[in-house]
Parts: sequence; structure tokens; C-alpha cells
Amino acid sequence: MNSPTSVPEPGPQYSERTHAAAGDDVDVLGISTGKEEFELAESALDTEVFGEDVVAKAKDLISRYPQSRSALLPMLHLVQSVQGYVSQEGVAFCARQLDLSEAEVSAVVTFYTMYKRKPCGQHLVSVCTNTLCAAMGGDAIYRRLTEHLGEDGKPLGHEETVGEPGQPGSLTIEHAECLAACDLAPVVQVNYEFYDRQTEQGAVELVDALRRGEKPAPSRGAPLTDFKSTELQLAGFFPEEEQTFRADVDGPSAAEETLRGAQLAEERGWTAPAMADEVALPALEQKEGR
Ligand code: FES
Repeated sequence: MNSPTSVPEPGPQYSERTHAAAGDDVDVLGISTGKEEFELAESALDTEVFGEDVVAKAKDLISRYPQSRSALLPMLHLVQSVQGYVSQEGVAFCARQLDLSEAEVSAVVTFYTMYKRKPCGQHLVSVCTNTLCAAMGGDAIYRRLTEHLGEDGKPLGHEETVGEPGQPGSLTIEHAECLAACDLAPVVQVNYEFYDRQTEQGAVELVDALRRGEKPAPSRGAPLTDFKSTELQLAGFFPEEEQTFRADVDGPSAAEETLRGAQLAEERGWTAPAMADEVALPALEQKEGR
């Protein structure tokens, strides 16, 4: 049995924590322990599971926001940069760091499609099958890729992986809703980098190159890395050796077609009605206990 200061194993019983006020006792595995000891045990558990560097990054994220809970979205990307998905351990880690319940964290993880519940491959391939891309060939591209990457005549399913997740050449495929590049339809993304105006054959050649360990240049934007590195960038961290990479990420990535409307408006002197300088916003309802 654990002593009050030892680190309990992660699991359902450990996750049933309560949010105690300072000075309250907390029940851990049936043992009543002080809140400070409980927090020490939690901190040791986070370091043990995720390592000092990740815990330091989590603290860094929290320091960027007036309210710690605002750091949840980047913190989930941080978890994915380590694990390649958000495991139950990852959910518990975020909950402990942000003083949220695991139910609150899980509600966010399961709402946004960018958070994965199964380990991803080295690359995440997203095929847009929303209306415009679908009509322009996106559905056919998705079908062709799932058949091409499947085994024994069974197509690869949505969010399924070919190869060992995380290992070189492994790929996870997904169909995605509008990827905000309709003017370049049909589009495919790899780790959220664009491969515009795709064809079935072009998409097959792209995934074959990825399977061989190559990183074909995207149509625009930053060079291709891998899923976990992209997740670290999405969390807001750019390792020193990748500072040049940051310049690429921050650089312009709009396509000529995307800017054409704005250029036409400028040439023809078209303007949109001006916005009022001040717009009264409705008062926010104060939540109890927040
Ligand atoms: S429908 Fe595919 S990018 Fe908009």
C-alpha cells in the first residue's frame, strides 16, 4: 500500500481526485493526506511519466496566460509532441497541471479533431473530403489512398495507421472537413502542410515517398517535418536549432489564388463598409467559483 507521500499508480482510482481547497485533506487510494503532500506526489508523478523537460514546458505554457486553464489547447499539443496522441495519462497530466478535472480535459480532447486518441504514424495525412474538394476529386483521392495503403484487400480506415506508429515511414490517414484552401481544391495535408491541387496519382506518389522516408516539399509554407515535431510547434515551442524553421512557419504561405480577390478589390477601388470604432459587447455572465 502507498504511504501518504508515495506516488500512486495512474489509474481510475487515482483519477478520482477532488479539488480541495488549501488546507483540506485529500483522499488518495483511501488514504487521507494533506493537500501539499498530495500536490508533491502529483508533481513527482508528472516528472516520472513525462520527464522534467515536458513538465518545464507545461509550466512555461501556464505562465503565458492570465488563467492557467487557458493553456489547455497548447498543452494537449505538447502531450501529442511526446506521445503522438493524447493518452489517458496525457489527459491526467493536463488535468493535474491546470487544476481541471479529467472530464473537463476529455471533453476538449474529444471535441477537436486535431487531438488524436490513438497513436499516430510518423506523418498524418489528411485528405479534404468536404463539398468542394469532394466534387473536385477529394473523395476519389481518399478512396484511392485508403485502398493503396490497406493490406490484404482491406482499405485503411479513417485515423488508422500503416506501419508501426511513430516509426519512420508510418502513416496515419484521415478524411478531413474543409482545410481552408478551397481555391486550390482538391487538397491534401501532411502534418498540416499543404499539397495543393492533388490528383489520385499525385497523392499516391506522395504517400509512397513518405513511406520511403522522404519528405517531399509542400506546395507552400514551411518544409515538412513529422507529426510530433509539428505538434511541438503547435504547442508554441521552437527548439534553438530550429530557429530558421520558425522563420519558415511565420513566413507567408498564401497562394496567388488566395490573394486574387483582394488584389482585384484594390485595383478596382472596392472597399467593405467600415466597422464602428467601438462596439458594445454584452456583459459576460460570471460563473460561480471562477
Ligand atoms: S472544401 Fe477542401 S479546402 Fe475547402
